[in-house]
This record gives sequence, structure tokens and C-alpha cells, in this order.
Amino acid sequence: MTAFPSAALAAMLAFGGTAMAQQQAPGLAAGAPEVQSAAPEVGAGRGGANGQQPEASERHSATGHPPGGDREAIAPRPPVPVAPITAPPPMTARGGADAAEAELQHALRGGVIQGMVSIPNQAAGILIQPEGRDWREFRTRILTIAGAVLVLGMLGLLALLYLWKGPQRIEAGRSGRSVERYGVLERVNHWMVASSFVLLGLTGLNITFGVHLLRPLLGPENFTALTLGSQAVHHFVAFPFTLGLLVMGAIWARDNLPTWVDVAWVKAGGPLAKGHPPAGRFNAAQKALYWFVLGGGLLAAASGFLLLAPAILDNISLLQVAHIVHAGMAMLMIAAILVHIYVGSIGAEGAFEAMATGRVDYNYAREHNGLWLEEKVQDAHRAAAASPAVARAAGAD
Ligand code: HEM
Ligand code: HEM
Repeated sequence: MTAFPSAALAAMLAFGGTAMAQQQAPGLAAGAPEVQSAAPEVGAGRGGANGQQPEASERHSATGHPPGGDREAIAPRPPVPVAPITAPPPMTARGGADAAEAELQHALRGGVIQGMVSIPNQAAGILIQPEGRDWREFRTRILTIAGAVLVLGMLGLLALLYLWKGPQRIEAGRSGRSVERYGVLERVNHWMVASSFVLLGLTGLNITFGVHLLRPLLGPENFTALTLGSQAVHHFVAFPFTLGLLVMGAIWARDNLPTWVDVAWVKAGGPLAKGHPPAGRFNAAQKALYWFVLGGGLLAAASGFLLLAPAILDNISLLQVAHIVHAGMAMLMIAAILVHIYVGSIGAEGAFEAMATGRVDYNYAREHNGLWLEEKVQDAHRAAAASPAVARAAGAD
């Protein structure tokens, strides 16, 4: 056994540098328990955790030198001294602030702890971002509570209004004659915006409330499938919605500029006024809705696209602001559009046909948008004087 110790050592050096290192490790560890305790964390992948011999020692025996004999052939070495790794003292017992402590204190005061990464996405290096706690508070509590109060509160108010007052009738009754209110482009564009908004709203609300409302009903698997699909719908439908908003902005802006007539309409009591205060093509309430959905919709779209492509901002704090703007604006818009949908469908007699057929009853137009009807009638008279065919094209029947 001890006949060729130097040959055995040479064979080990030639074939098993790694084996040497691995076989020495227990020896080293014996002198330094802290290192030994770290070994299991290296994991089973290295062959040590499942109790087998390291792979390299088997390679060594394949040369014809029995492994056990070789080990005995090596003269026992004194353990290489390793500086003991001592556990840090408890937080309260620390003395002067070292770098780690300083960083921790910085984080506790609201600073960011960031490492270095070699990929373009520098945000990936952020380890601790304390503002994230405020954002999480908004996302998990404020948004859910405020959103539920806004959306359910508005639905409740509209239901009460309907039960109390019923639909607003055309006071003079239907005249049986109609006037053109919206052209084809206006209607097609309106319905594109409307249908995409409804889809964005439903899929967005699922992101906010689905986990509380639908997950218990559908079960986790079905809910996950539904949410992945509805998230894709949300992202896809964002494009027609934004396009429709831009077109709305282009074709209706002139008719929605504020005038003194709007001030008089509001002073007279607006929708609650006795009688029918005069209004142009759109009354002050319609103008307010228009500017709100245009501004709010573009803000929701801009913040939504930033969330869709986070690399544009490449900054976690700004992305959190974008999310707060997006979700907050979305809830406000949903509440406002619920009022609009109510008035445009069951809330006001004769309104829906304006967007369905493009025409409204004369008496509806006189009561809601009297000044606009007068202009229309004058245009039709002027056109009739020139040619009856042109008058029909101008919307008279
Ligand atoms: C989904 C259901 C919707 C229904 C049933 C509906 C119905 C209507 C109706 C009937 C009108 C014509 C009112 C009139 O001229 O007297 C109208 C106009 C209008 N709609 Fe909608 N709409 C819906 C969704 C939307 C959405 C989602 C938006 C915008 C995000 C929107 C924006 C507008 C605007 C700006 C006008 C012109 C101003 C006004 O009349 O208030 N609508 N809508
Ligand atoms: C127009 C462009 C829009 C884009 C690009 C967009 C994109 C996004 C993105 C990227 C998210 C983050 C959640 C995720 O996708 O996983 C989101 C969430 C959400 N969006 Fe939109 N969105 C848009 C418009 C709207 C509109 C108009 C509404 C309201 C009707 C809306 C309502 C919501 C809601 C409620 C959430 C969930 C917020 C939360 O609970 O965290 N979005 N949207």
C-alpha cells in the first residue's frame, strides 16, 4: 500500500486536479465549521448533497489505482488555516455604521438599494425600492376600495334615478319628423370607441377585482385562463380605442368649444332646469363629457402604452406613477361613461336613435339642442330655395 506514494500522488495530480480540490474540502471544512455548514447550499447538482462520492474520484479509480489505497497513500496534511467566518452581531448591538448598514439605513429612509447589471435593463439591478410599498398600498387597498365605491356607487345612483324619475320623455311627444344628427363616420367611430371602451373596462376591472370576485367562483385554473385571455384583449383593443379617440378629437372639437350659451345653460340649471334652456349642437353637459373622455382617454392610453412597453421609461418609480394614473383615470372614466350610457340608452327618450340611425325626432332636437336645430332648419331653408334635392341632402325631410 505504501510502496509507491509519490507515484500515486503524481497520478492524482495528473488525473484529478478537481478531485484534489474536492477531497480536500472536507479537510478544510473540519477546521472551519462555518464553511462546512455552507456546503449544502451549493446544492445537489454538484454531487455532494446526495451522499455519493464526487464524480472526479471515480474517474481517478478508472485509471487502475484503487481510490481507497490512494487516499491512504497521501501523507496527512495539516489543515490550511482559514479565517473563521463569524456571524454578524445582532442589529441592535452593531457599533459604527459599515457600508451594508449605511445602505440599509438609506433604504429605511426611503432610498433605493441598487446592484449592477450588465444588461441594458438597469432597473433589473434594483434590489430594494421603498416607494414600492406606497404603490402596493395603492394597488391592493386604495384602488380596490375607491374603484368599488366609484363604480358600484354610480350604478346604484343611476338605478335610484331610474326608479325615482324614470326615463326623461320628449315633452312635446314625437313629431313624426326627423333631422340628421350624426353622419356615418361619426357613428362608426363612436361605436368603435364605445365597444372598445366596454371591452377595456371589463377586462381592466377583471385585473383589479377578478381575484376577489371571479377566482372563488371559477377556480384558479379557469380564472387564470380567463385573465390571460382578457389581458390580451385589453392590450389589443387599446389600439382601436386610441385611434377612435383621436378621430373624435378631430371631428367634434369645433362643436364642443365652450361659449356663453353654455354658461347660460348651466345657470338655468342644466339637466335639472325647468323648461329647456337653449343649447347648440352639444349642451354644456355633453361638452364636459367630450373633453373629459378625450383628455382622460388620451391620458389612460398614454399611461397604458407606457405600462405595455416598460423599457421606454426604464424606471420603476415612473412606471408606478404611470400605473396609478392609468388605474385612477380608468375608474373615473368608467363612472362617467356609466352616466353617459344611461342617458344615451334608457335615460332619455329618443337619444339612442341619434347614434343608431343618425337621425333624431324634431321635438327631441328642439328640447335638447334647440339652437343647433334652428341652424339646421335655416340651412335647409336656404338650400331649399336653391334646390329641393340639396335640401334633402342637408338633412331636411
Ligand atoms: C357603450 C355604450 C354607449 C352608448 C349606448 C352611447 C350612446 C350615445 C348616444 C345615443 C349619443 C348621442 C346623444 C345625442 O346626440 O343626443 C352619444 C354621443 C356621444 N358619445 Fe356615446 N355611447 C356609448 C359609449 C360611449 C363611450 C365609451 C364614449 C367615449 C369614451 C362615448 C362618447 C360619446 C360622445 C363624446 C358623444 C357626443 C356628446 C354627447 O352626446 O354626449 N360614448 N353616445
Ligand atoms: C388605451 C390604451 C390602454 C392601454 C395600452 C392599456 C394598457 C394597460 C396595461 C398594460 C395594464 C397593466 C395590467 C396588465 O396588462 O397586466 C392595464 C391595466 C388596467 N387598465 Fe388599461 N389600457 C388602456 C386603456 C384602458 C381604459 C380606457 C380603461 C378603462 C376603461 C382601462 C382600464 C384598466 C384597468 C382597470 C386596469 C387594471 C389596473 C389594476 O388593477 O392594476 N385601460 N391597462
